Amino acid sequence: MLEILIATNNLGKVKEIKDILDSPEIKILTMKDFPHLPKIEEDGKTYQENAFKKARKISEYTGKICLADDSGLEIDYLKGKPGIYSSRWGNSDEERINKVLKLLENIPKNKRNAKFVCVAILVFPDGKIYTVKEECKGSIEFKPKGEHGFGYDPIFLVPEYDKTFAELGDKIKNQISHRGKAMRRMINIINELVVNE
Ligand code: IMP
Repeated sequence: MLEILIATNNLGKVKEIKDILDSPEIKILTMKDFPHLPKIEEDGKTYQENAFKKARKISEYTGKICLADDSGLEIDYLKGKPGIYSSRWGNSDEERINKVLKLLENIPKNKRNAKFVCVAILVFPDGKIYTVKEECKGSIEFKPKGEHGFGYDPIFLVPEYDKTFAELGDKIKNQISHRGKAMRRMINIINELVVNE
């Protein structure tokens, strides 16, 4: 049994990652199991730097194998913004969504392309690291739709379904999302590690 600590305080992410990594070979720990951990500043210039910093620091503090992801929404019309600043683009999900919609006001559908990016990193206490990067392409809706998920989900439209992530719900989102794809690749890596343990 491999114990893996998910190094994030974002409950939306914890839920998604737990669902995807659900396996009898893996025991998932969360930050709630370690209430006195310090806050890690996300001051890197890339998703990789941020994810690595979170996973490495938490692994150092806890002595556990840590899995962290750093993700963001990149909007073509805004030259890739908010990108690595996605979580800090306002004080609440509602504020961040309204900011995007305001910046894209009157911008037609064919210029609203966007993608979610996710870098996931698994860090071992002995320093070994594994990294994967995945994307999910879509576009920005004209108004929020749907009740599921978190973050920018209500305005991220998936063309294959003509629905937002928030309308699609967790099961379908996890099959196609940036994080779902990254975590499935990670689980293949973890399964190989379990076999070779
Ligand atoms: P971080 O990876 O903790 O820096 O946060 C990334 C931010 O990007 C989140 O707080 C959300 O605002 C946004 N984000 C990342 N992935 C998703 C997603 O699957 N749905 C909606 N928003 C997301």
